[in-house]
Amino acid sequence: MRVLVTGGAGYIGSVMVRMLADEGHDVVVLDNLSRGHRRAVGGVDIAVVNLEDLSAVTETCRAFQPEACLHFAARSLVAESVAEPLAYFRTNVGGSLNLVGALLETDCDLMVFSSSAATYGIPEGSPIVEDAETAPINPYGVSKLMFERILKWLSEAGSLSYVSLRYFNAAGADILHDLGEDHDPETHLVPRVIAAALGTEPSVSVYGTDYPTPDGTCVRDYIHILDLARAHLLALDYLSSGGPSAVFNLGNGNGFSVKEVIDVVGRVSGREFDIVNAERREGDPSILVASSELIKSRLAWKPEFADLETIIETAWQWHSRHPDGYG
Ligand code: UFG
Repeated sequence: MRVLVTGGAGYIGSVMVRMLADEGHDVVVLDNLSRGHRRAVGGVDIAVVNLEDLSAVTETCRAFQPEACLHFAARSLVAESVAEPLAYFRTNVGGSLNLVGALLETDCDLMVFSSSAATYGIPEGSPIVEDAETAPINPYGVSKLMFERILKWLSEAGSLSYVSLRYFNAAGADILHDLGEDHDPETHLVPRVIAAALGTEPSVSVYGTDYPTPDGTCVRDYIHILDLARAHLLALDYLSSGGPSAVFNLGNGNGFSVKEVIDVVGRVSGREFDIVNAERREGDPSILVASSELIKSRLAWKPEFADLETIIETAWQWHSRHPDGYG
């Protein structure tokens, strides 16, 4: 199948691109390389294009004639979205509209969209089911929910079919293809703890120790990027065999606290490092754990690397080999 992967130079997108290529798909990456890494794309064709540039996006679609699109490209920093909401709506909503317009013009009507647990805001129950209330508390979460709604209306009008995957906390590395997590700035817990263990950062901060959780620190659902990417392959098969549009959570269904993640990094690395208790980070829900029952039953997905030690072991291996990331 000819598959366009937007954001294919990013952390999750790059893993997806290699998995698609290994499965024999014909892949083109569309990425502006603002946060992604050319090295992560390997030998796969890349169009260095900004989603906000409608004519360049249209040109890329016309030249490649994709049959399906996996849409990863987005701005994805929650705090930055609060400071710069316009940029987030321009890219994540405006850019995505450009993309979908160009795809429809070239008769491509299948999309897998990278959505987020941020669409739920502060959830009432745990684990979170897909029909829980969506009440995002930052522009990033709103932008993801807005585009989900746009896709829903397009689907109801018969223009396209889509699967929206609401990711929980992506973590780990693709050791086979030597791909890992390298954001600038890095805000995510796992790479920050690893940086402290490697000594590239002086310490790791724990943002809040007074949450209503067993050890007082926030609980998250960590999912290995290979499990996450494989869910997209299944979604692609589902859509291309005529499956109706759907929204699925994508997590392991197991919660781990910030302290537990730090302990596991300590054990896996065998290193000692400084841990500093800090203030809560604004807008962090205390517990975010997915119910992934729907994707398990509808797409026969199941995580292969559900265990936190394995997830962190792969991240540790990659970061030890690449202490400066992609450099
Ligand atoms: N944390 C620390 N110290 C750090 C970094 C993070 O204590 O140095 C804590 C955070 O406060 C949070 C947990 O570790 O409680 C996980 O934080 P991450 O930044 O790794 O991930 P988030 O859960 O904040 O973010 C994820 C996705 C976002 C999505 C968000 C929804 O990465 O894309 O969930 O709330 F928007």
